[in-house]
Amino acid sequence: MTRHFLRDDDLSPAELLEVLDLADAMKADPFGHKPLTGPHTVALVFDRPTLRTQVSFAAGIAELGGNPMTVDGGLAAMGSREGVEDVARVLGRQAAAIVWRTAHQSDVVTMAEHAGVPVLNALTDEFHPCQLLADLQTVREHKGRLAGVRAAFVGDGACNMGNSWFLAGAAAGMHVVVGAPEGFHPDPDVVAKAREVAQGTGGSVELTTDPVEAVTGADVVVTDSWVSMGREEEAGDRMRVFPPYGVTEELLAHAAADAIVMHCLPAYRGKEIAEAVIEGPQSVVWDEAENRRHAQKAVLTWLLEKSS
Ligand code: NVA
Repeated sequence: MTRHFLRDDDLSPAELLEVLDLADAMKADPFGHKPLTGPHTVALVFDRPTLRTQVSFAAGIAELGGNPMTVDGGLAAMGSREGVEDVARVLGRQAAAIVWRTAHQSDVVTMAEHAGVPVLNALTDEFHPCQLLADLQTVREHKGRLAGVRAAFVGDGACNMGNSWFLAGAAAGMHVVVGAPEGFHPDPDVVAKAREVAQGTGGSVELTTDPVEAVTGADVVVTDSWVSMGREEEAGDRMRVFPPYGVTEELLAHAAADAIVMHCLPAYRGKEIAEAVIEGPQSVVWDEAENRRHAQKAVLTWLLEKSS
């Protein structure tokens, strides 16, 4: 059966740990794993802006012995020039796997149904699971464990990162609190699924509208842009509700003294994160950005192995 990574809960809690262990092994020995020798091609399709995702996948696929083939989503014009079903079957005949950043989760599902090769979600409006693998790898590096670690996500909890933190954090046995304004909490179906997963792992997921309550005692403080891709028209309204959720030095002071600060980037300094915080000693954002490569190499390798 072909395995895909379309949302965080496509990996069971045990599988998630297998992938994270492989990511650590790949980080320790970046050129020691060559599952794509041939070279096999991996298609990287971007319908939306990218920096970290494109460069980390391209560099990682090269390290695995493969050929990263970047496809300009604008030129391919999926959905208008031809349907996702047809593109899936064409790409699946050229590439060993497909990595796709696009707006709608339903489209990556359609791609997976028709491609015949593993499909990886490189961000949709709903989920950003590759980022969460890198985030969990980073937390484990800095905290030595995942189970029992307390993470606070403050800001736009309704975006892809809020949903993914709930699902992946619960799978890892973490205690995740989302502190977000009314109307900006993770999707209710995701909350229910995360609660169910957390019951099996000893983790928990909680919601609050109070940023101080969310951050109090946290080992990890996470934030993300208040205006995700595709939400640009709402920027004015969002700038009115989100300022109390900015990760400032004052807010961070409520977290554990040794808390780390994470941000998937791009960061808007002075908005969701203060300059002094992102540049400060608790910030691990550059480790997080580097770990995209190791974590994505691991999940790609793992999916190919399980699908063969
Ligand atoms: N929530 C952000 C993540 C960017 C990597 C967005 O969707 O724009």
